[in-house]
Amino acid sequence: MNKTAIITGASRGIGRAAAIKFATVGYNVILNSKNGGENLDKTLSLCRNICGDRVIAVKGDVSDSSFVKELIDKAVTAFGRIDVLINNAGISYVGLIQDTSDDIWQNVINTNLSSVHYCTREVIPHMLKNRSDNTDIPISEASGHIINISSVWGNVGASCEAAYSASKGGINAYTKACAKELAPSGISVNAIACGFVDTDMNRHLTEEERLDVISQIPASRAASPEEIAEILYHTSQMPAYLTGQIITADGGWI
Ligand SMILES: NC(=O)c1ccc[n+]([C@@H]2O[C@H](COP(=O)([O-])OP(=O)(O)OC[C@H]3O[C@@H](n4cnc5c(N)ncnc54)[C@H](OP(=O)(O)O)[C@@H]3O)[C@@H](O)[C@H]2O)c1
Repeated sequence: MNKTAIITGASRGIGRAAAIKFATVGYNVILNSKNGGENLDKTLSLCRNICGDRVIAVKGDVSDSSFVKELIDKAVTAFGRIDVLINNAGISYVGLIQDTSDDIWQNVINTNLSSVHYCTREVIPHMLKNRSDNTDIPISEASGHIINISSVWGNVGASCEAAYSASKGGINAYTKACAKELAPSGISVNAIACGFVDTDMNRHLTEEERLDVISQIPASRAASPEEIAEILYHTSQMPAYLTGQIITADGGWI
């Protein structure tokens, strides 16, 4: 039976690139995004060209725990197992602390952090089942891999991105806590703390601002979503002993 990967926030950017990568290497893929529409349809169609009917798209908001139950149920109904969860869905907010209203704060924290807990909580029983269904899995092989997309701002904080930094710092701590709790069950939990990635999330920057950021990065460029997808895929192939790590992918920036 093919392994299955769930990728939240797969309509664009890093999520789309990850979906294409996992489809290419033979996984069943579950795509998700809040707004769906043309963008999610495009990812679905790109994946279908690669892996036929081994991909489904489920539109909905991962900051809503009842939707997350539905998402995981649909994944298991479609493909019978879950091996990889990529908690990628996220939003940014750039503004002063004084301008960060209750609504903005809650939206950023719920979308970026609460969603990670909801998805993690729902996949654990299915990842545990992978080992109970097949006791021949070597101890070094993970029963499941949970990979959270964090940010360098979760490591060091960013001015004018307090809510975003808090959400990603929360992901880092949550990743380490889950890794400790789930290591006895052979489930690995790691985070990729991305630096500057060429996606819609940074389209609000002027050309001058973009070049200013790039001038601070030793690699002298933004990462492509495809590079981050490679890192995600390779992390998902690591032995279970690699767990609880915040792997920073920032071209040497921070
Ligand atoms: N780009 C960077 O420089 C950078 C750096 C560090 C970390 N990251 C992180 O990388 C992840 C992916 O971001 P990206 O750069 O690829 O940005 P992006 O192009 O803006 O994509 C964000 C994705 O998240 C989805 N999404 C947002 N809210 C959602 C919700 N409530 N439920 C389900 N899906 C939701 C969006 O879907 P719809 O809008 O279609 O609903 C979209 O597919 C985020 O967690 C981001 O914080 C990015």
